[in-house]
Amino acid sequence: MAQTWTPTSWRNKPIQQVPDFPDAAALEATEAQLASFPPLVFAGEARRLKKALAQVSEGHGFLLQGGDCAESFAEHGADTIRDFFRAFLQMAVVLTFGAQQPVVKVGRIAGQFAKPRSSNIERQGDIELPSYRGDIINGIEFTPEARIANPERQLMAYRQSAATLNLLRAFAMGGYANLENVHQWMLGFVKDSPQAERYRKLADRISETMDFMKAIGITSDNNSSLRETDFFTSHEALLLGYEQALTRVDSTSGDWYATSGHMIWIGDRTRQADHAHVEYCRGIKNPIGLKCGPSLTADGLLELIDLLNPTNEAGRLTLICRFGHDKVADHLPRLIRAVEREGKKVVWSCDPMHGNTITLNSYKTRPFERILNEVESFFQIHRSEGTHPGGIHIEMTGKDVTECTGGARALSGADLADRYHTHCDPRLNADQALELAFLLAERMKGGRDEKRLVVNG
Ligand code: TRP
Ligand code: MN
Repeated sequence: MAQTWTPTSWRNKPIQQVPDFPDAAALEATEAQLASFPPLVFAGEARRLKKALAQVSEGHGFLLQGGDCAESFAEHGADTIRDFFRAFLQMAVVLTFGAQQPVVKVGRIAGQFAKPRSSNIERQGDIELPSYRGDIINGIEFTPEARIANPERQLMAYRQSAATLNLLRAFAMGGYANLENVHQWMLGFVKDSPQAERYRKLADRISETMDFMKAIGITSDNNSSLRETDFFTSHEALLLGYEQALTRVDSTSGDWYATSGHMIWIGDRTRQADHAHVEYCRGIKNPIGLKCGPSLTADGLLELIDLLNPTNEAGRLTLICRFGHDKVADHLPRLIRAVEREGKKVVWSCDPMHGNTITLNSYKTRPFERILNEVESFFQIHRSEGTHPGGIHIEMTGKDVTECTGGARALSGADLADRYHTHCDPRLNADQALELAFLLAERMKGGRDEKRLVVNG
Protein backbone atom coordinates (compact mmCIF):
# COMPACT_ATOMS: atom_id res chain seq x y z
CA MET A 1 0.00 0.00 0.00
CA ALA A 2 2.67 2.48 -0.99
CA GLN A 3 0.19 4.72 -2.79
CA THR A 4 0.55 8.35 -1.89
CA TRP A 5 -1.93 9.81 0.47
CA THR A 6 -3.29 13.33 0.23
CA PRO A 7 -6.22 14.93 2.08
CA THR A 8 -8.23 14.38 -1.12
CA SER A 9 -7.11 10.86 -2.06
CA TRP A 10 -10.26 9.39 -0.46
CA ARG A 11 -12.25 10.96 -3.30
CA ASN A 12 -10.95 8.32 -5.72
CA LYS A 13 -12.27 5.43 -3.62
CA PRO A 14 -15.67 3.83 -3.30
CA ILE A 15 -17.64 5.35 -0.46
CA GLN A 16 -20.61 4.33 1.70
CA GLN A 17 -23.10 6.48 3.61
CA VAL A 18 -22.62 9.54 1.46
CA PRO A 19 -25.45 12.08 1.41
CA ASP A 20 -26.88 13.27 -1.85
CA PHE A 21 -26.27 17.04 -1.98
CA PRO A 22 -28.49 18.47 -4.71
CA ASP A 23 -26.49 21.71 -4.95
CA ALA A 24 -22.90 20.71 -5.80
CA ALA A 25 -21.71 24.31 -6.20
CA ALA A 26 -22.99 25.25 -2.76
CA LEU A 27 -21.24 22.21 -1.25
CA GLU A 28 -17.96 23.20 -2.86
CA ALA A 29 -18.29 26.79 -1.67
CA THR A 30 -18.96 25.63 1.90
CA GLU A 31 -15.98 23.30 1.90
CA ALA A 32 -13.76 26.12 0.62
CA GLN A 33 -15.02 28.38 3.38
CA LEU A 34 -14.41 25.73 6.05
CA ALA A 35 -10.90 25.25 4.73
CA SER A 36 -10.21 28.92 5.50
CA PHE A 37 -11.46 28.68 9.10
CA PRO A 38 -9.15 28.15 12.10
CA PRO A 39 -8.57 24.58 13.29
CA LEU A 40 -10.73 23.47 16.22
CA VAL A 41 -7.97 21.51 17.91
CA PHE A 42 -4.22 21.74 17.85
CA ALA A 43 -1.91 18.91 16.72
CA GLY A 44 0.04 19.02 19.99
CA GLU A 45 -3.14 18.13 21.87
CA ALA A 46 -3.79 15.14 19.61
CA ARG A 47 -0.23 13.97 20.27
CA ARG A 48 -0.77 14.34 23.99
CA LEU A 49 -3.87 12.16 23.75
CA LYS A 50 -1.94 9.61 21.71
CA LYS A 51 0.68 9.44 24.42
CA ALA A 52 -1.97 8.85 27.07
CA LEU A 53 -3.54 6.12 24.92
CA ALA A 54 -0.12 4.55 24.40
CA GLN A 55 0.05 4.12 28.16
CA VAL A 56 -3.37 2.47 28.12
CA SER A 57 -2.30 0.10 25.34
CA GLU A 58 0.55 -0.97 27.59
CA GLY A 59 -1.88 -1.83 30.38
CA HIS A 60 -1.63 1.38 32.34
CA GLY A 61 -4.84 3.37 32.60
CA PHE A 62 -8.34 3.33 31.20
CA LEU A 63 -10.07 5.17 28.37
CA LEU A 64 -13.44 6.71 29.21
CA GLN A 65 -15.14 7.81 26.00
CA GLY A 66 -18.73 8.97 25.95
CA GLY A 67 -21.36 11.46 24.96
CA ASP A 68 -24.35 11.87 22.70
CA CYS A 69 -25.17 9.50 19.90
CA ALA A 70 -25.79 12.62 17.85
CA GLU A 71 -25.38 16.23 18.95
CA SER A 72 -28.16 18.53 17.85
CA PHE A 73 -28.43 22.20 16.94
CA ALA A 74 -31.64 22.57 18.96
CA GLU A 75 -30.05 21.40 22.21
CA HIS A 76 -26.95 23.54 22.03
CA GLY A 77 -27.01 25.23 25.42
CA ALA A 78 -24.67 25.83 28.34
CA ASP A 79 -26.78 23.65 30.66
CA THR A 80 -26.64 20.63 28.37
CA ILE A 81 -22.87 20.90 28.09
CA ARG A 82 -22.40 21.46 31.82
CA ASP A 83 -24.70 18.59 32.77
CA PHE A 84 -22.86 16.27 30.44
CA PHE A 85 -19.46 17.34 31.71
CA ARG A 86 -20.53 16.99 35.31
CA ALA A 87 -21.81 13.44 34.78
CA PHE A 88 -18.64 12.61 32.88
CA LEU A 89 -16.41 13.97 35.68
CA GLN A 90 -18.31 11.92 38.22
CA MET A 91 -17.70 8.78 36.20
CA ALA A 92 -14.05 9.71 35.78
CA VAL A 93 -13.48 10.31 39.44
CA VAL A 94 -15.22 7.07 40.42
CA LEU A 95 -12.99 5.18 38.01
CA THR A 96 -9.79 6.95 39.01
CA PHE A 97 -10.35 6.58 42.73
CA GLY A 98 -11.97 3.16 42.61
CA ALA A 99 -9.54 1.54 40.23
CA GLN A 100 -6.49 3.63 41.17
CA GLN A 101 -5.57 4.09 37.56
CA PRO A 102 -5.32 7.19 35.38
CA VAL A 103 -8.42 7.76 33.27
CA VAL A 104 -8.08 9.18 29.76
CA LYS A 105 -11.11 11.39 29.20
CA VAL A 106 -12.54 11.65 25.71
CA GLY A 107 -16.00 13.08 24.94
CA ARG A 108 -18.19 12.12 21.99
CA ILE A 109 -18.81 15.81 21.66
CA ALA A 110 -17.95 19.04 19.82
CA GLY A 111 -18.25 17.43 16.38
CA GLN A 112 -20.45 14.32 16.74
CA PHE A 113 -23.06 15.33 14.18
CA ALA A 114 -23.04 12.95 11.21
CA LYS A 115 -24.92 9.64 11.42
CA PRO A 116 -24.67 6.51 9.27
CA ARG A 117 -28.09 5.05 8.53
CA SER A 118 -29.24 1.53 7.72
CA SER A 119 -31.57 2.83 5.01
CA ASN A 120 -31.43 5.84 2.69
CA ILE A 121 -35.19 6.19 2.99
CA GLU A 122 -37.53 6.65 5.94
CA ARG A 123 -41.16 5.69 5.47
CA GLN A 124 -44.03 7.03 7.60
CA GLY A 125 -47.47 5.83 6.49
CA ASP A 126 -47.24 6.01 2.73
CA ILE A 127 -44.80 8.92 2.62
CA GLU A 128 -41.16 8.24 1.84
CA LEU A 129 -38.42 10.79 2.51
CA PRO A 130 -34.63 10.70 2.64
CA SER A 131 -33.40 9.49 6.06
CA TYR A 132 -32.19 11.94 8.66
CA ARG A 133 -28.37 11.84 8.65
CA GLY A 134 -27.51 14.13 11.53
CA ASP A 135 -27.80 17.90 11.97
CA ILE A 136 -24.62 18.52 9.97
CA ILE A 137 -26.43 17.16 6.88
CA ASN A 138 -30.22 17.58 7.11
CA GLY A 139 -33.08 18.23 9.55
CA ILE A 140 -34.81 15.63 11.73
CA GLU A 141 -38.34 16.92 10.98
CA PHE A 142 -40.22 14.59 8.67
CA THR A 143 -40.78 17.10 5.86
CA PRO A 144 -39.38 17.15 2.32
CA GLU A 145 -37.65 20.53 2.93
CA ALA A 146 -35.93 19.47 6.15
CA ARG A 147 -34.61 16.26 4.65
CA ILE A 148 -32.75 17.96 1.79
CA ALA A 149 -29.00 17.76 2.45
CA ASN A 150 -27.92 21.37 3.04
CA PRO A 151 -24.17 22.16 3.02
CA GLU A 152 -24.64 25.33 5.09
CA ARG A 153 -25.35 23.11 8.06
CA GLN A 154 -21.63 22.29 8.10
CA LEU A 155 -20.84 25.90 8.98
CA MET A 156 -23.30 25.71 11.85
CA ALA A 157 -21.77 22.41 13.04
CA TYR A 158 -18.31 23.95 12.93
CA ARG A 159 -19.39 26.98 14.95
CA GLN A 160 -21.30 24.87 17.47
CA SER A 161 -18.27 22.61 17.87
CA ALA A 162 -16.05 25.65 18.48
CA ALA A 163 -18.41 27.06 21.12
CA THR A 164 -18.83 23.69 22.84
CA LEU A 165 -15.10 23.07 22.88
CA ASN A 166 -14.51 26.54 24.26
CA LEU A 167 -16.78 25.89 27.23
CA LEU A 168 -15.35 22.42 27.82
CA ARG A 169 -11.82 23.77 27.86
CA ALA A 170 -12.89 26.42 30.35
CA PHE A 171 -14.50 23.79 32.58
CA ALA A 172 -11.52 21.44 32.36
CA MET A 173 -8.82 24.04 32.92
CA GLY A 174 -10.60 26.96 34.59
CA GLY A 175 -11.61 25.52 37.96
CA TYR A 176 -14.84 23.56 37.46
CA ALA A 177 -12.95 20.24 37.29
CA ASN A 178 -10.93 21.03 40.41
CA LEU A 179 -11.04 17.96 42.66
CA GLU A 180 -12.05 20.27 45.49
CA ASN A 181 -15.42 20.48 43.72
CA VAL A 182 -15.99 16.73 43.89
CA HIS A 183 -19.11 17.21 46.03
CA GLN A 184 -20.50 20.03 43.90
CA TRP A 185 -20.66 17.79 40.82
CA MET A 186 -23.41 15.92 42.60
CA LEU A 187 -25.60 18.97 43.21
CA GLY A 188 -27.52 18.71 39.96
CA PHE A 189 -28.23 15.08 40.68
CA VAL A 190 -31.75 13.77 40.89
CA LYS A 191 -32.72 13.70 44.55
CA ASP A 192 -33.81 10.10 44.91
CA SER A 193 -30.93 8.77 42.85
CA PRO A 194 -29.76 5.39 44.14
CA GLN A 195 -26.21 6.32 43.14
CA ALA A 196 -26.13 9.61 45.06
CA GLU A 197 -25.34 8.05 48.44
CA ARG A 198 -22.65 5.85 46.99
CA TYR A 199 -21.10 8.81 45.25
CA ARG A 200 -21.26 10.98 48.37
CA LYS A 201 -19.27 8.39 50.32
CA LEU A 202 -16.58 8.27 47.68
CA ALA A 203 -16.47 12.08 47.49
CA ASP A 204 -16.05 12.22 51.28
CA ARG A 205 -13.01 9.98 51.05
CA ILE A 206 -11.52 12.13 48.31
CA SER A 207 -12.10 15.28 50.36
CA GLU A 208 -10.43 13.67 53.33
CA THR A 209 -7.43 12.76 51.20
CA MET A 210 -7.30 16.31 49.87
CA ASP A 211 -7.40 17.70 53.43
CA PHE A 212 -4.49 15.50 54.37
CA MET A 213 -2.52 16.64 51.34
CA LYS A 214 -3.32 20.25 52.15
CA ALA A 215 -1.91 19.71 55.65
CA ILE A 216 1.37 18.63 54.15
CA GLY A 217 1.46 21.49 51.68
CA ILE A 218 -0.01 20.01 48.48
CA THR A 219 -2.97 22.14 47.41
CA SER A 220 -4.89 22.76 44.21
CA ASP A 221 -3.26 26.20 44.13
CA ASN A 222 0.22 24.80 43.91
CA ASN A 223 -0.57 21.54 42.09
CA SER A 224 -2.23 21.76 38.69
CA SER A 225 -3.10 18.07 38.52
CA LEU A 226 -5.55 18.53 41.42
CA ARG A 227 -7.00 21.61 39.75
CA GLU A 228 -7.20 20.67 36.08
CA THR A 229 -7.94 17.75 33.85
CA ASP A 230 -7.15 16.88 30.23
CA PHE A 231 -10.42 16.53 28.38
CA PHE A 232 -10.36 15.53 24.70
CA THR A 233 -13.00 15.48 21.95
CA SER A 234 -13.92 12.82 19.41
CA HIS A 235 -16.49 11.98 16.75
CA GLU A 236 -17.11 9.61 13.87
CA ALA A 237 -15.28 10.92 10.80
CA LEU A 238 -18.20 10.17 8.49
CA LEU A 239 -18.65 13.33 6.45
CA LEU A 240 -15.30 13.35 4.68
CA GLY A 241 -15.74 16.64 2.82
CA TYR A 242 -16.01 18.38 6.18
CA GLU A 243 -13.06 16.42 7.59
CA GLN A 244 -10.93 17.21 4.56
CA ALA A 245 -11.62 20.93 4.90
CA LEU A 246 -10.32 20.80 8.47
CA THR A 247 -7.27 18.65 7.68
CA ARG A 248 -4.15 20.74 8.20
CA VAL A 249 -0.37 20.37 8.22
CA ASP A 250 1.11 20.72 11.67
CA SER A 251 3.94 23.21 11.34
CA THR A 252 6.10 21.65 14.06
CA SER A 253 6.12 18.09 12.64
CA GLY A 254 5.11 18.62 9.01
CA ASP A 255 2.44 15.93 9.47
CA TRP A 256 -1.25 16.06 8.52
CA TYR A 257 -3.81 16.19 11.30
CA ALA A 258 -7.58 16.18 11.43
CA THR A 259 -8.33 19.35 13.37
CA SER A 260 -12.08 18.76 13.73
CA GLY A 261 -11.46 16.87 17.01
CA HIS A 262 -8.65 15.17 18.88
CA MET A 263 -9.65 11.61 18.06
CA ILE A 264 -11.85 10.39 15.23
CA TRP A 265 -13.21 6.95 14.54
CA ILE A 266 -14.30 4.83 11.61
CA GLY A 267 -17.78 3.30 11.88
CA ASP A 268 -18.60 -0.39 11.56
CA ARG A 269 -20.46 0.33 8.30
CA THR A 270 -17.65 2.26 6.63
CA ARG A 271 -14.52 0.27 7.51
CA GLN A 272 -13.95 -1.45 4.12
CA ALA A 273 -10.18 -1.56 3.62
CA ASP A 274 -10.26 -0.23 0.04
CA HIS A 275 -12.90 2.44 0.65
CA ALA A 276 -12.82 6.17 1.31
CA HIS A 277 -13.09 6.32 5.11
CA VAL A 278 -10.11 4.08 5.73
CA GLU A 279 -8.17 5.94 3.05
CA TYR A 280 -8.81 9.30 4.71
CA CYS A 281 -7.95 8.10 8.21
CA ARG A 282 -4.74 6.32 7.30
CA GLY A 283 -3.08 9.60 6.33
CA ILE A 284 -3.75 11.72 9.38
CA LYS A 285 -1.71 11.38 12.54
CA ASN A 286 -4.44 11.68 15.19
CA PRO A 287 -5.38 8.79 17.42
CA ILE A 288 -7.93 6.73 15.49
CA GLY A 289 -10.77 4.53 16.63
CA LEU A 290 -12.05 1.56 14.66
CA LYS A 291 -15.48 0.14 15.41
CA CYS A 292 -15.40 -3.66 15.38
CA GLY A 293 -18.70 -5.49 14.90
CA PRO A 294 -19.60 -9.17 14.44
CA SER A 295 -18.88 -9.19 10.69
CA LEU A 296 -15.21 -8.28 11.14
CA THR A 297 -12.91 -11.27 10.50
CA ALA A 298 -9.53 -11.67 12.17
CA ASP A 299 -7.75 -11.31 8.82
CA GLY A 300 -9.88 -8.29 7.97
CA LEU A 301 -8.89 -6.69 11.24
CA LEU A 302 -5.18 -7.37 10.69
CA GLU A 303 -5.41 -5.87 7.22
CA LEU A 304 -7.02 -2.73 8.65
CA ILE A 305 -4.42 -2.50 11.42
CA ASP A 306 -1.62 -2.63 8.83
CA LEU A 307 -3.29 0.12 6.80
CA LEU A 308 -4.12 2.38 9.71
CA ASN A 309 -1.06 1.79 11.86
CA PRO A 310 1.74 0.45 9.63
CA THR A 311 4.48 1.35 12.12
CA ASN A 312 2.63 -0.30 15.05
CA GLU A 313 2.73 2.94 17.01
CA ALA A 314 1.25 2.59 20.49
CA GLY A 315 -1.75 4.89 21.11
CA ARG A 316 -2.57 5.31 17.44
CA LEU A 317 -5.33 2.73 17.25
CA THR A 318 -8.24 1.99 19.58
CA LEU A 319 -10.42 -0.99 18.72
CA ILE A 320 -13.96 -0.18 19.82
CA CYS A 321 -15.76 -3.52 20.07
CA ARG A 322 -19.54 -3.51 19.67
CA PHE A 323 -20.78 -7.06 19.38
CA GLY A 324 -23.85 -7.32 21.60
CA HIS A 325 -24.15 -9.05 24.97
CA ASP A 326 -24.95 -12.40 23.37
CA LYS A 327 -22.25 -12.25 20.69
CA VAL A 328 -19.21 -10.83 22.45
CA ALA A 329 -18.02 -14.28 23.57
CA ASP A 330 -18.19 -15.55 19.98
CA HIS A 331 -16.18 -12.74 18.45
CA LEU A 332 -13.88 -10.97 20.88
CA PRO A 333 -11.53 -13.89 21.68
CA ARG A 334 -10.69 -14.58 18.03
CA LEU A 335 -9.86 -10.92 17.41
CA ILE A 336 -7.76 -10.66 20.58
CA ARG A 337 -5.80 -13.79 19.63
CA ALA A 338 -5.06 -12.52 16.13
CA VAL A 339 -3.88 -9.16 17.43
CA GLU A 340 -1.75 -10.77 20.14
CA ARG A 341 -0.26 -13.32 17.75
CA GLU A 342 0.88 -10.52 15.44
CA GLY A 343 2.11 -8.34 18.31
CA LYS A 344 -0.04 -5.37 17.35
CA LYS A 345 -0.32 -2.53 19.83
CA VAL A 346 -3.91 -1.47 20.36
CA VAL A 347 -6.24 -0.16 23.02
CA TRP A 348 -9.18 -2.53 23.52
CA SER A 349 -12.34 -0.60 24.26
CA CYS A 350 -15.89 -1.89 24.80
CA ASP A 351 -18.90 -0.21 23.21
CA PRO A 352 -21.76 -1.99 25.00
CA MET A 353 -24.41 0.21 23.38
CA HIS A 354 -24.60 -0.47 19.66
CA GLY A 355 -24.99 -4.25 19.73
CA ASN A 356 -27.77 -4.10 22.31
CA THR A 357 -30.48 -2.00 20.69
CA ILE A 358 -34.04 -3.35 20.65
CA THR A 359 -37.49 -1.93 19.93
CA LEU A 360 -39.98 -1.75 22.80
CA ASN A 361 -43.38 -0.02 22.64
CA SER A 362 -42.15 1.35 19.30
CA TYR A 363 -39.17 3.05 21.01
CA LYS A 364 -35.62 2.16 20.15
CA THR A 365 -34.14 1.26 23.53
CA ARG A 366 -31.30 -0.61 25.24
CA PRO A 367 -31.81 -2.74 28.32
CA PHE A 368 -29.29 -1.68 30.95
CA GLU A 369 -28.76 -5.34 32.02
CA ARG A 370 -27.56 -6.21 28.53
CA ILE A 371 -25.17 -3.27 28.55
CA LEU A 372 -23.71 -4.40 31.89
CA ASN A 373 -23.60 -7.95 30.58
CA GLU A 374 -21.52 -7.05 27.58
CA VAL A 375 -19.15 -5.05 29.81
CA GLU A 376 -18.81 -8.00 32.21
CA SER A 377 -18.04 -10.39 29.36
CA PHE A 378 -15.53 -7.95 27.90
CA PHE A 379 -13.64 -7.87 31.21
CA GLN A 380 -13.82 -11.63 31.71
CA ILE A 381 -12.57 -12.38 28.21
CA HIS A 382 -9.62 -10.03 28.60
CA ARG A 383 -8.78 -11.61 31.94
CA SER A 384 -8.70 -15.07 30.45
CA GLU A 385 -6.74 -13.95 27.37
CA GLY A 386 -4.27 -12.06 29.56
CA THR A 387 -4.91 -8.75 27.79
CA HIS A 388 -5.85 -5.33 29.14
CA PRO A 389 -9.52 -4.26 29.04
CA GLY A 390 -8.52 -0.72 28.20
CA GLY A 391 -11.66 1.33 27.89
CA ILE A 392 -15.35 1.92 27.46
CA HIS A 393 -17.26 3.80 24.76
CA ILE A 394 -20.78 4.82 25.70
CA GLU A 395 -23.70 6.97 24.62
CA MET A 396 -24.75 9.04 27.62
CA THR A 397 -26.16 12.38 28.68
CA GLY A 398 -26.09 14.38 31.89
CA LYS A 399 -29.85 14.77 31.75
CA ASP A 400 -32.47 12.64 33.45
CA VAL A 401 -33.80 11.08 30.24
CA THR A 402 -35.72 7.81 29.92
CA GLU A 403 -34.17 6.15 26.90
CA CYS A 404 -32.55 2.94 28.18
CA THR A 405 -34.61 0.58 30.33
CA GLY A 406 -33.45 -0.87 33.65
CA GLY A 407 -30.83 0.41 36.06
CA ALA A 408 -31.19 0.80 39.80
CA ARG A 409 -34.39 2.80 39.30
CA ALA A 410 -35.77 0.05 37.07
CA LEU A 411 -37.04 2.14 34.16
CA SER A 412 -39.70 0.13 32.38
CA GLY A 413 -40.87 0.04 28.79
CA ALA A 414 -43.83 2.19 29.84
CA ASP A 415 -41.47 4.85 31.27
CA LEU A 416 -39.72 5.39 27.93
CA ALA A 417 -42.37 7.86 26.79
CA ASP A 418 -41.68 10.25 29.72
CA ARG A 419 -38.43 11.86 28.63
CA TYR A 420 -37.27 10.27 25.40
CA HIS A 421 -35.26 13.08 23.80
CA THR A 422 -32.48 11.53 21.74
CA HIS A 423 -32.00 12.51 18.11
CA CYS A 424 -30.75 9.08 17.28
CA ASP A 425 -29.87 6.17 19.61
CA PRO A 426 -30.97 5.77 23.26
CA ARG A 427 -28.45 7.08 25.80
CA LEU A 428 -27.67 6.21 29.40
CA ASN A 429 -28.97 8.90 31.74
CA ALA A 430 -26.68 10.41 34.39
CA ASP A 431 -27.83 7.86 36.95
CA GLN A 432 -27.24 4.83 34.75
CA ALA A 433 -23.87 6.21 33.62
CA LEU A 434 -22.73 6.55 37.22
CA GLU A 435 -23.98 3.06 38.08
CA LEU A 436 -21.93 1.73 35.18
CA ALA A 437 -18.87 3.61 36.43
CA PHE A 438 -19.14 1.96 39.86
CA LEU A 439 -19.36 -1.45 38.25
CA LEU A 440 -16.36 -0.72 36.03
CA ALA A 441 -14.31 0.48 38.99
CA GLU A 442 -15.01 -2.78 40.80
CA ARG A 443 -14.00 -4.88 37.82
CA MET A 444 -10.81 -2.88 37.27
CA LYS A 445 -9.91 -3.19 40.91
CA GLY A 446 -10.54 -6.93 40.75
CA GLY A 447 -8.11 -7.25 37.87
CA ARG A 448 -5.48 -5.28 39.74
CA ASP A 449 -5.74 -7.43 42.86
CA GLU A 450 -5.50 -10.54 40.73
CA LYS A 451 -2.35 -9.23 39.04
CA ARG A 452 -0.87 -8.45 42.42
CA LEU A 453 -1.57 -11.99 43.60
CA VAL A 454 0.17 -13.38 40.56
CA VAL A 455 3.18 -11.15 41.13
CA ASN A 456 3.39 -11.98 44.83
CA GLY A 457 2.69 -15.67 44.35
N1 TRP B 1 -5.71 15.79 36.86
C1 TRP B 1 -6.14 14.50 37.32
C2 TRP B 1 -6.91 13.76 36.24
O1 TRP B 1 -7.38 14.38 35.33
C3 TRP B 1 -6.99 14.58 38.59
C4 TRP B 1 -8.29 15.28 38.39
C5 TRP B 1 -8.55 16.60 38.47
C6 TRP B 1 -9.53 14.64 38.08
N2 TRP B 1 -9.87 16.87 38.29
C7 TRP B 1 -10.50 15.67 38.02
C8 TRP B 1 -9.90 13.30 37.88
C9 TRP B 1 -11.81 15.37 37.71
C10 TRP B 1 -11.22 13.02 37.58
C11 TRP B 1 -12.17 14.04 37.51
O2 TRP B 1 -7.03 12.56 36.30
MN1 MN C 1 -25.30 5.63 18.15
